[in-house]
Amino acid sequence: MTEAVARPSEALKGTARVPSDKSMSHRALMLGAISAGVTRVSSILEAGDVLSTASALRAFGVSVERIDGTFIVRGDAWRTPARMLDLGNAGTGVRLLMGLAAGQGALCTFTGDPSLMRRPMGRVLDPLRAMGLQADDREGRLPVTLKPSQLRSFTYELPMASAQVKSAVLLAGLGAQGPVTVIEKTPTRDHTERMLKAFGADLETDGHRITLTPGARLVGQTLAIPADPSSAAFPIVAALMRPGSEVVLPEVMLNPRRTGLFATLRRMGAEITEEHLRLVGGEEVADLRVRASPLKAVKVPASDVPDMIDEIPILAVAAASAEGTTRIEGLEELKVKESDRLAATAGLLTAAGVTCRTGDHWLEIDGGDIRGGGTVDTDHDHRIGMATLVLGLSAQEPMRITGAEAIATSFPGFATLMASLGAAIESA
Ligand code: S3P
Repeated sequence: MTEAVARPSEALKGTARVPSDKSMSHRALMLGAISAGVTRVSSILEAGDVLSTASALRAFGVSVERIDGTFIVRGDAWRTPARMLDLGNAGTGVRLLMGLAAGQGALCTFTGDPSLMRRPMGRVLDPLRAMGLQADDREGRLPVTLKPSQLRSFTYELPMASAQVKSAVLLAGLGAQGPVTVIEKTPTRDHTERMLKAFGADLETDGHRITLTPGARLVGQTLAIPADPSSAAFPIVAALMRPGSEVVLPEVMLNPRRTGLFATLRRMGAEITEEHLRLVGGEEVADLRVRASPLKAVKVPASDVPDMIDEIPILAVAAASAEGTTRIEGLEELKVKESDRLAATAGLLTAAGVTCRTGDHWLEIDGGDIRGGGTVDTDHDHRIGMATLVLGLSAQEPMRITGAEAIATSFPGFATLMASLGAAIESA
């Protein structure tokens, strides 16, 4: 198990491109895997989670090659995998692939690391079974075995705000006998819908209803993946908190279902400006310029949370330095992330001497001086590790993490990139 430490730092300065978007990277490989011809994905996220998806696709007979930094996917020959598919830490990888594989009539077994093994899979299996899928599971957890099944036309109202569940049903729908409709009360990230359309699928969105009609021929595409706003969140908050900082983060994706953190930080007083707006991979992107800013506490309603579902730990870190008490509502989904992130976020704040309170669905953080001096185990959760290290940059005493290797699931080179901006973060 590797360790990392963050010490009180001077101002952050400079320009650094954070790694590419994890959600788009998974989807680009999966859609390439079921499309005719060749898909070329440049600037893909080469991190644990996405490499797990690539390796699972190879086990299905899909060719995924890396040539001069571009991933080349050829997907015409699906076969039964000869081994169990280990998706490691990748919740998106396993849930979307279950939907895709169910639609392809695959016989296969999925498993994962200790974090993925404790995460709920019933949320995906329930609708897939209602479509006709035969599957074995271990009380709604991995390992899950899918059996070749004919899937029916289906309409599903999502019981929770989850892009993974929505995507699994739509991807399964590609192989169903008739149209599949997903109704989502709260909109979630729509990368699957955008990318399905770009590859040629027959998909229509009408308010809260998304309908995929199977039968259209999907054709391989050439696309580039922009920088991940969920990864950009860490240097952004670090720069806001260190007086005198000014950093530029190029090509950050600005899909409105992903930018809730930026909106909330601006409400807290953050100076984050968007420069050179343009399109990359079918998504709007900008270079973000961030200047250190005194932050004020805010109330975050439950309705704001889905657009920043992965950013709550780092928002809590920003709140620790804000003037006043920040309250965040609607956090029930946080309990089933890579760790119980509601408990883990409260744990990292407490380890740094920050006063916070949690309820079943909410978190309150009292802003003020940050003592630091604590050690936090990531428990296989990359974002808990990075949030702790960013907190350490603004604490009086260093913050340490164990299980630092988890960070590579989404942000390989995190310590090096942060150090290039002047942050005192070292891997031990
Ligand atoms: C993701 C959806 C979200 C998010 C995860 C990535 C995706 O999960 O937390 O990191 O790529 O679809 P849920 O679908 O469980 O909300």
